[in-house]
Amino acid sequence: MALLFFSFHDPKPSPSLTRPMMLLLLLPAIVAVAAAAAARIPSIGASPPLPFIVLHGISDECKHSGLTQFTQLLSEFSGASGFCIEIGNGASDSWFMPLTKQAENVCEQVKALPELQAGYNIVGLSQGNVIGRGVIEWCDEGPQVFNMVSLGGPHAGIASVPLCTVLSICALADVIMEMGGIYSTFAQNHFAPSGYMKIPTDLTAYYEGCAFLPKLNNEIPTSRNSSFKERFSKLNHLVLVKFENDTVLVPPETAWFGYFSPNATNSVLSFEEILQR
Ligand SMILES: *[C@@H]1O[C@H](CO)[C@@H](O)[C@H](O)[C@H]1NC(C)=O
Ligand SMILES: *[C@@H]1O[C@H](CO)[C@@H](O)[C@H](O)[C@H]1NC(C)=O
Ligand SMILES: *[C@@H]1O[C@H](CO)[C@@H](O)[C@H](O)[C@H]1NC(C)=O
Repeated sequence: MALLFFSFHDPKPSPSLTRPMMLLLLLPAIVAVAAAAAARIPSIGASPPLPFIVLHGISDECKHSGLTQFTQLLSEFSGASGFCIEIGNGASDSWFMPLTKQAENVCEQVKALPELQAGYNIVGLSQGNVIGRGVIEWCDEGPQVFNMVSLGGPHAGIASVPLCTVLSICALADVIMEMGGIYSTFAQNHFAPSGYMKIPTDLTAYYEGCAFLPKLNNEIPTSRNSSFKERFSKLNHLVLVKFENDTVLVPPETAWFGYFSPNATNSVLSFEEILQR
């Protein structure tokens, strides 16, 4: 598997901007980066080009104009057909359906889409990236994923709740968080981001209670599954785009699998440094 790293110098987003709105503002630049990345992947330039699916971020929906434009522009740039895959009812399920279920949902959809049966690529936005990796690692008998382009994925976890701007969703999220904390069974079953929230000062609770990311990343030595690693390593290319001044992903380095040192919130280890420990 070839790894390509890109850093994206985004204008500092205002805290009141949600991801979908940011996406709309940054759309031309993001598509340019994604297209530049795609151009470096030989099999995307093959003819006929492999189709791709888009897995959107939290709060977003395939029918939002930013996402429709994103998929369409990417399709025009690459000459490949693109499909935005919606999970359940969209925005609300992106917050409240556990990520393992979301990955299963995508798995069923990619198995059912005739256009994807000869293989496909995944373009992930934010939370969509960890769902995409779930599909790569766990979707038994699904069509093969050849390449993945990851835009701002929380691959190594995040240390704070993603930006919440819809009041009803924020209120519900608060209630869930208060009912026993982020690693409670209740939160794990009803609040999607709890699946990749990794509190650097509470790693024991993370390993014990977090149902999604430790499994996805094979982080727990006693319960590693070599077939996850094997499937993930089968990717031809993994393109990891980091938004340098990301305020949604804490720390932004998580997009490159980097994360805070244990017990620290002020020093970040790169993926290589984490592996050496
Ligand atoms: C991103 O943050 C760095 C460090 O604070 C700063 O030097 C740079 O100008 C920022 N980039 C943009 C586009 O704001
Ligand atoms: C590992 O994952 C594969 C594929 O999902 C599954 O068939 C197998 O049972 C798992 N092995 C263990 C030990 O959990
Ligand atoms: C982090 O803090 C916990 C609790 O204070 C402690 O048990 C653990 O050894 C610390 N880990 C590191 C790597 O410093």
